[in-house]
Amino acid sequence: MPVLELDNVTAAYGKAEVLHGIGLKVEPGGAVGILGANGAGKTTTLRAVSGMVKTGGQVTFNGRKITGLRPDQVAGLGISHVPQGRGTLARLSVRDNLLVGAYRRKDSRGVAVDLEHYFELFPQLAARRNNLAAALSGGEQQLLAIGRAFMSKPELMLLDEPSLGLAPSTAQGVYEAIAELRRHSGLSMVVVEQNAALAFSIVEEAIVLETGHVALAGTRDELMGMDAIREAYLGG
Ligand SMILES: Nc1ncnc2c1ncn2[C@@H]1O[C@H](COP(=O)(O)OP(=O)(O)OP(=O)(O)O)[C@@H](O)[C@H]1O
Ligand SMILES: [Mg+2]
Repeated sequence: MPVLELDNVTAAYGKAEVLHGIGLKVEPGGAVGILGANGAGKTTTLRAVSGMVKTGGQVTFNGRKITGLRPDQVAGLGISHVPQGRGTLARLSVRDNLLVGAYRRKDSRGVAVDLEHYFELFPQLAARRNNLAAALSGGEQQLLAIGRAFMSKPELMLLDEPSLGLAPSTAQGVYEAIAELRRHSGLSMVVVEQNAALAFSIVEEAIVLETGHVALAGTRDELMGMDAIREAYLGG
């Protein structure tokens, strides 16, 4: 059974429908990309999963219909959303930002173990654990936002343009970190990205959105073999 399945999903802001029937499937432990230009509906698709936008059609998580649930209910089921723009808490320390991610958990021992696990994977952040998030570089803030999501111990992580605003080498470092996290946790992921080369360093499959529709879908190799993808997203 897929971890996540979107079937004919629509979404609207007020009366304006911006998703017109999206389909997507994530198998357990899998990672699927959502590619597309600005305004194509990538963020809205993640919001439709998280319960942050008025949604039609069907979203199922481990076979359970979650369409219409509130964001806190979706999060409580084990879906963690790293929003576009990161949303770290500037005036809290690195450590406290990570603990905010764990606030629902009752297993304080497990939280402590995961915190140390995170710091082992990301020594750069460990060295700054008592610094304010505001004092981190853009790449470090992205790693912190991902860490906060990780600390909720999710089964599925939704990542919205983790490379946004980062220099290419920093963005690549963030993607290596995401890959590392995936290897160590077995998390399933949906990764929104405009840079297909970065996305394909992680995901095995992707959909390409155009104005709220799925224009293309396939495996990494299928999509990377298409001229349209190479020209639009891989620089020819
Ligand atoms: N809060 C909102 N209220 C009204 N319309 C919105 C809102 N957020 C997004 N939209 C519209 O919905 C459509 C899809 O936007 P969305 O943010 O999902 O695109 P995106 O693919 O994530 O783009 P980007 O790459 O720029 O982040 C766009 O036409 C956008 O203008
Ligand atoms: Mg977006």
